[in-house]
Amino acid sequence: ELGEYAHYMLKEIHEQPVAVADTLEGRIAGGKILTQIFGVDAERLLADTQAVHIIACGTSYHAGLVARYWIEQLAGVPCTAEIASEYRYRDPVVREGTLFLTISQSGETADTLAALKLAKERPYLARMAVCNVPESSIVRESALVLMTRAGPEIGVASTKAFTTQLVALALFSLALARAKGLDDERYSDGVRQLERLPGHIAEVLKLDEEIKELAEQFIGKHHALFLGRGTHWPVAMEGALKLKEISYIHAEAYAAGELKHGPLALVDEDMPVIAVAPNDRLIDKLKSNLEEVRARGGVLYAFVDETVAHGLDAARVVILPASGEIAAPIISTIPLQLLSYHVAVQRGTDVDQPRNLAKSVTVE
Ligand code: F6R
Repeated sequence: ELGEYAHYMLKEIHEQPVAVADTLEGRIAGGKILTQIFGVDAERLLADTQAVHIIACGTSYHAGLVARYWIEQLAGVPCTAEIASEYRYRDPVVREGTLFLTISQSGETADTLAALKLAKERPYLARMAVCNVPESSIVRESALVLMTRAGPEIGVASTKAFTTQLVALALFSLALARAKGLDDERYSDGVRQLERLPGHIAEVLKLDEEIKELAEQFIGKHHALFLGRGTHWPVAMEGALKLKEISYIHAEAYAAGELKHGPLALVDEDMPVIAVAPNDRLIDKLKSNLEEVRARGGVLYAFVDETVAHGLDAARVVILPASGEIAAPIISTIPLQLLSYHVAVQRGTDVDQPRNLAKSVTVE
């Protein structure tokens, strides 16, 4: 089943152009997202949605954090994203017109399922799920469902499930935004970015050899710091999670603007700093954060698009295609997956089955 690949994780990373294309298949027609893909009555529910509560765990939670930026930016609808193990034990205030949205690859994660069951007793407008397993408990308990079509994910570290979740959430964010009056130009541009994604991902996968070589720099390291801003902050969080899960290198992610508020004290030549950034309105701010890192002797690795790379003082700059505000966090995720994969392989850890972890967390 592995074919030409040494591990399931690598195979699944390389399946992403197809998994993303499958997740988009039949969901866009004539440049428009088909509302009925979310379920019957979706048209009315989108119009009635006045807030969104996103609940998930781990990598799926990171997808939710990205979606939070999209939902507020494009739809102008207030959105929170929260881990299920916290949500289920507090008393959230649910305002009228709030949509409850769970994200789960397996559809069986204990905390997420428990949160969903609790949500049934709260005055939500509706319960929606983004999920990869059609017959799962979370799908059965949700009124609206948008399936990711990643196919089976065997590697414990989530890769193609995450990027297809982002695609499903982008479809949802754009459809909601349209219902709330997003203008033609931004809407059509967003849809086009999604349609171009499979090609862009295939392009980024060609960086495999370059990243494999870069991974050698990390073999003897004990710590790493990931930085991003905006939608790229959760991308940095996901990059750090991947690295710690499979290579056992301690990694942390920070919103770059928080550097001065503490973590800058950690930066020295033994703490590699990984920055991810598209060319967006935050880029100048991020660049000055990165200069602070360099000024303290930090070794910086930057994954940025061409337009940003110019004049960037870093140990290594990896160039990504410019893909637009919606596609960018998906594109930027790919090289970070490849980086953790190659670091782990070079450190000799069990990539597909990291110690102490299970693929599906069905107990609390
Ligand atoms: C990390 C990873 C986990 C899962 C989390 C939620 O690579 O796979 O953090 O994302 O356990 O699982 P699902 O999405 O099945 O609810």
